[in-house]
Amino acid sequence: MTNPLTEKIQQFYDESSPLWERTWGEHMHHGYYGPTGQQKKNRRQAQIDLIEEMLNWGRVSEAQTILDVGCGIGGSTLYLAEKFNAQAVGITLSPVQAKRAGDRAQEKGVTLQAFENFGDVRPAVQFQVTDALNTPFPDNSFDFVWSMESGEHMPDKLAFLQECYRVLKPGGTFLMATWCHRPTHTLAGPLTSSEERHLKRLYQLYHLPYVISLSGYGTLAESIGFTDLELADWSRQVEFFWQDVVQSALDPAVIAGIFEAGMQTIRGTAAIALMTTGFSRGLIRYGLLRGSKG
Ligand SMILES: C[S@@+](CC[C@H](N)C(=O)[O-])C[C@H]1O[C@@H](n2cnc3c(N)ncnc32)[C@H](O)[C@@H]1O
Repeated sequence: MTNPLTEKIQQFYDESSPLWERTWGEHMHHGYYGPTGQQKKNRRQAQIDLIEEMLNWGRVSEAQTILDVGCGIGGSTLYLAEKFNAQAVGITLSPVQAKRAGDRAQEKGVTLQAFENFGDVRPAVQFQVTDALNTPFPDNSFDFVWSMESGEHMPDKLAFLQECYRVLKPGGTFLMATWCHRPTHTLAGPLTSSEERHLKRLYQLYHLPYVISLSGYGTLAESIGFTDLELADWSRQVEFFWQDVVQSALDPAVIAGIFEAGMQTIRGTAAIALMTTGFSRGLIRYGLLRGSKG
């Protein structure tokens, strides 16, 4: 992995994941606060509810083989493998995350071994450092491909979706949640220069190459051949998450941890304000996409 963006993403997650897990737990994604975003609940429950609500929305009620694209420390991978009694592979750019995800599997008593050797064992998981744009898996390997908040890091959104499509078995489902910018084909028109500046600052702090609109993802997915395509904007449902993050980040132990973790994490924390204002001005959107193969 010699690409500078890939290296930065890897370093960012290598450095910040232990602090994230200590402070916010194993799920490195937003939470779901009800259809109007008003439900009061604890953050971890909200994160699990987001997974469950997405599965419902995406009509995924069973899975045998799962690929978790951008798996973090395996929060969703293990949750899905256990829920569906399935075999799951999680991929990440961060060796620290892959190692921690494997340790978590062992702590939970879930079989950890190479994908090729899963045999009939269920649930079973594997975690590996692999670039989502170029994975080693044969065509048609998984009946469910899940991507929770990793699409925003992908430097080539078309290649990302193509790879997800390639490894999906015919009849399988792809389900993704990703950060987007607002639509630009509406009356609001193209992004303004102030919006462009806002996004640029966020890209720098979170190591994102760029984000696109949800309808942009829809167009790409359609061009690749995904069928039964559906899109949904869940910005309202998840936006409260950042208020919760801000409150917990005010804890002196967390502040100390942020400084201890290093420069990338300090910069990442500064981006929290960009996310809250990005949502409140309608610029940042939380997009869901589901599609089938064949
Ligand atoms: C915000 S975290 C989400 C983690 C996890 N999905 C969760 O919800 O807990 C983003 C993840 O995407 C991964 N990622 C980013 N770019 C990637 C790429 N090109 N290939 C594989 N993983 C990538 C990062 O390593 C990280 O694990």
